[in-house]
Amino acid sequence: MQSPPPQTWSQRFETALHPAIARFNASIGFDIELIEYDLTGSAAHAKMLVKTGILSPEEGKQIVTGLETIRQEYRRGDFTPGVEAEDVHFAVERRLTELIGDVGKKLHTARSRNDQVGTDVRLYLRAQIEAIQSLLRQYQQTLLTIAEANVETLIPGYTHLQRAQPLSLAHHMLAYFAMAQRDWERLRDIQKRVNISPLGCGALAGTTFPIDRQYAAELLGFEQVYGNSLDGVSDRDFAIEFACAASIIMVHLSRLSEEMILWASEEFSFVTLNDSCSTGSSIMPQKKNPDVPELVRGKTGRVFGHLQGLLVMMKGLPLAYNKDLQEDKEALFDTVNTVGGCLEAMTILLAEGVTFRVPRLRQAVNEDYSNATDVADYLATKGVPFREAYNLVGQVVKTSLAAGKLLRELTLEEWQAIHPAFEDDIYAAIAPQQVVSARNSYGGTGFEQVREALQRATQALGEG
Ligand code: ARG
Repeated sequence: MQSPPPQTWSQRFETALHPAIARFNASIGFDIELIEYDLTGSAAHAKMLVKTGILSPEEGKQIVTGLETIRQEYRRGDFTPGVEAEDVHFAVERRLTELIGDVGKKLHTARSRNDQVGTDVRLYLRAQIEAIQSLLRQYQQTLLTIAEANVETLIPGYTHLQRAQPLSLAHHMLAYFAMAQRDWERLRDIQKRVNISPLGCGALAGTTFPIDRQYAAELLGFEQVYGNSLDGVSDRDFAIEFACAASIIMVHLSRLSEEMILWASEEFSFVTLNDSCSTGSSIMPQKKNPDVPELVRGKTGRVFGHLQGLLVMMKGLPLAYNKDLQEDKEALFDTVNTVGGCLEAMTILLAEGVTFRVPRLRQAVNEDYSNATDVADYLATKGVPFREAYNLVGQVVKTSLAAGKLLRELTLEEWQAIHPAFEDDIYAAIAPQQVVSARNSYGGTGFEQVREALQRATQALGEG
């Protein structure tokens, strides 16, 4: 007679899995990451089985204690199931049965791995979203600190990567703060849909046992339970939504990274990279490389890839559970780890890895034509229609360029030759500090506006 297969499935199987197929099928190599959530979910399930009279209190106690022992073993590094366990769920159940005997086999009553894995992934993601939110807060705080110190530090502002109008450096940093604020809120909104319990949906159709899904959900801190068992076991919308939110965070980090890389170049020289966050070249001793922002920019593609991967994985799946869904895990884990790592690295980079070269920034805004719009605005306030003023300033710029002069170097005669409305106050009106300060419309770069924006930002950070 053939020996029974080592798998946990029913006796209908006569031969063991081909070893290569066992390895191919197994998820234990990565879903061990879920173990703490699996133990918590199982303990709640066991308590629910006791509450509903499906298990005796004594049985429930043994199970819960056994699960706790496994948790301790795992934390000590003593629980390292191999490929024969297939996945974390089987691994835990097997160990439980080793520890407490046949009672361990009762844990899976009124449950399937399908609702179990759905529960685990949601518990995992709920915790990870909170962790990422807190990393976002630290990143925002660092942006805010730079902004607070640099309200009146000017930096060239660009459109099309052409010098456009000077800005308060704080305003520039607060733009990234605002993106991160939406990222934080987006994660908060997603939690509503992550925090729904599929436990008790069974394999796909519910269960014949008189379970209390609400009770188990409450024990696990879920806000709701899925109202349709088929949907509950096969929904991964919440994971896709998270991957999307993560991708948007990465877009924002990547844009800031790109600016850091440009700013650190010889051509811009707006920042210097400090030693703790940059690396040298193996051959060119003069170089300091912006590895941190380059890696963040590079890792962005990976996160986008996971979003795409999850979408494609789902698109052809008939209801309900399909093994394809096992593929959600590595995508999610890598997304969580990548976004977390990038947020942490960018926070450190901002806190200690870059120094703004304020004199160089001052020189930059003093020696360009980015105050040209202000000349047009000046004429417009003196009654010249804006479009006509705009055309006249085109002439001003042309004359200045031809004479090799900056706008502030034109004599009053030269100004008045272009339009008699120019008076001596033109010089004050086009000084960079004034140019920035004057953009006092709500949300603009004017210092007064920036100070108000700083207050709003501080308030937002206080909101959790
Ligand atoms: N390892 C599986 C997963 O990650 C667990 C669920 C397996 N369910 C099943 N019916 N084979 O999706």
